[in-house]
Amino acid sequence: MPRVLLLLLVLGAACARAEDSAITIQVDQPGITISPTLWGIFLEEISRAGDGGIYAEMVQNRSFEDAGIPIGWTLVAGGATQGKMTLDKAKPLNSRNPTSLRLDVTHAQGERVGIANQGFKGSPQLPKGETEKWLPTFEAAASQTANGLAIAQGKEYRLSFYARAAVGFNGPVTASLERPDGTVLASHAFYYLTPTWRLFSGTLTSSAAEADARLVLSSSKTGTIWFDMVSLFPKETWKDRPNGLRKDLMEMIAAMKPAFVRFPGGSYINGDTLADAYHWKETIGPLEERPGHFCCWGYRSTDGLGYHEYLQMAQDLGAEPLYVVNCGIANDWRKVVETVPMDKMDDWVQETLDAIEYANGPVSSKYGALRARAGHPEPFHLKYVEIGNENGGGRYHDRYKLYYEAIKAKYPELHVIACDWHGLPKSAPVEIADEHDYNSPAAFMAKATRYDSYPRPGPQIYVGEYAVTKTSTRGNLEAALGEAAFMTGMERNADVVTLSSYAPLLCREGWMSWHPDAIYFNPTHAFATPAYYNQVLFANNRPDRILPVDLKEVPPTAEPRSTARMFAVAGQTRNGDEVILKVVNTQAKTTESVITLDGATEVGSSAGVTTLASENARDENSFEQPTRVALKESQFAGVSTVFKYTFPANSVTVMRIKAK
Ligand code: AHR
Repeated sequence: MPRVLLLLLVLGAACARAEDSAITIQVDQPGITISPTLWGIFLEEISRAGDGGIYAEMVQNRSFEDAGIPIGWTLVAGGATQGKMTLDKAKPLNSRNPTSLRLDVTHAQGERVGIANQGFKGSPQLPKGETEKWLPTFEAAASQTANGLAIAQGKEYRLSFYARAAVGFNGPVTASLERPDGTVLASHAFYYLTPTWRLFSGTLTSSAAEADARLVLSSSKTGTIWFDMVSLFPKETWKDRPNGLRKDLMEMIAAMKPAFVRFPGGSYINGDTLADAYHWKETIGPLEERPGHFCCWGYRSTDGLGYHEYLQMAQDLGAEPLYVVNCGIANDWRKVVETVPMDKMDDWVQETLDAIEYANGPVSSKYGALRARAGHPEPFHLKYVEIGNENGGGRYHDRYKLYYEAIKAKYPELHVIACDWHGLPKSAPVEIADEHDYNSPAAFMAKATRYDSYPRPGPQIYVGEYAVTKTSTRGNLEAALGEAAFMTGMERNADVVTLSSYAPLLCREGWMSWHPDAIYFNPTHAFATPAYYNQVLFANNRPDRILPVDLKEVPPTAEPRSTARMFAVAGQTRNGDEVILKVVNTQAKTTESVITLDGATEVGSSAGVTTLASENARDENSFEQPTRVALKESQFAGVSTVFKYTFPANSVTVMRIKAK
């Protein structure tokens, strides 16, 4: 070939780059209706998501029931002062809260002796029954800096505690918020302790901010004092609820616009043994009468964030509650370890019927009255109950039938969800099946077409837990691209896939039981992973009807689409005048697409664009760089019936185009 001709060809190619893909949307052919509950959240007590997380309590081990040692508490004494701190079961606050903390001030001489709490400093990962030997691990965790009790300048904190004193003690107890070096930032003296339990409360306002503070309760008079239910709450909680939730984290969750909240587990409801199974009745009523229970993720749950609070949270989020019940099976890491015999299942099934009555029953009903007494006379309108978590096999199928039949007999309108764990129960009808999937980016991309061939009609699918777990611990963009590809498939089939929730949602620094998670936090800060931004992107851009999309990649990808590099789904909004296109480009290079709005008679000239992208698919967020991979909004002015758009490398893009 003559050199001039070759040069012209090369120049031509450079000026008019051949498109890498063609996306054709059939704007005039709306198909299935997309389930309005498609994008929800799963909130499990794991990695301190609840206690030490969204539940705004700042004191760890407030009721001294967490272990056989005073986990979370240290003695403040030294020099000329002496004292002793011990757990005590004599004369408990009440029978459901058997342990209190006894402080013996033996030598005070005008100086203080006390107890200090540094909040949730880090994870001692205490196995049950072996707590003493873990004390050094706990102390090491507690010596981490800036992950404990963080207080802000000028903010009000509500302190409350129960105390009693031995006859002869005549001093006040002083509560103070302090820096690690002992500088007092706020204090309050409480007088008139008696030999019987009394509730003390007050407000502490800090004169300065401190990210590593401690709460100290002390006395400079000798004697013996017992403490229980020592609680410190920020006055400001999300939606100003008493016993409420941490505002910054809940605002991040609210931005996900969840259509439902699955709670409280996960493996958490299963328990490692039946003794640790979740029982909702133990989680309601006065806080000091909630016994708490061991959480299979390595710590004790106070159940301060209890059944009522979960229902309230869902309501405050504008989301449907989805309650998961233990169906008489305890799992230790997905292996059945204990089951309730079939002839003893009645109480367990009744417990679920009672939970439904608590949520929905009239105030004249037994449990509806309890709900009203807790300040919520109106029903919570619980519609979804899931029977078990990751349970399967004959033992599960037998128990599923008991629950299904009992619930449907009393509450036929309720949606019952079954676990799809190695096969669906055939013992009773399955309306909604919960599938869980933790996998690699490639596996999720290959599953983008998974639901295309699901039977219709067939059970609805709830993808109750899913996440890319095989690329990084903190959830990088590559993971989010795999999930986004899968999510296009869920949305395209949202007549079958009617619910879904990424998992897990939250993880406190120093308490990681599972990774990755959607949101990482410490006492003062939080950052979201790219997976979180996917959820925000999809939930905030959920169309009403699916529009057929034909995506052709150049060079063509082999069938089946397990080799696909791009994924797309499109839909139409409720009023039919907007097209929402979602495109996932998993390649490390930009991709130019010709986009055709086939059948459209009116097309606007610009589109709102939201993009999640980064140059390197391995990029992730951190406390230092919280928004390295985050959503970016822009406007694209070149829209017409046929137009070109260049999708960034490693990207998820949503375009909202006025077209009909
Ligand atoms: O999401 C973390 C855990 O994974 C859940 O508790 C459990 O259901 C699953 O195995």
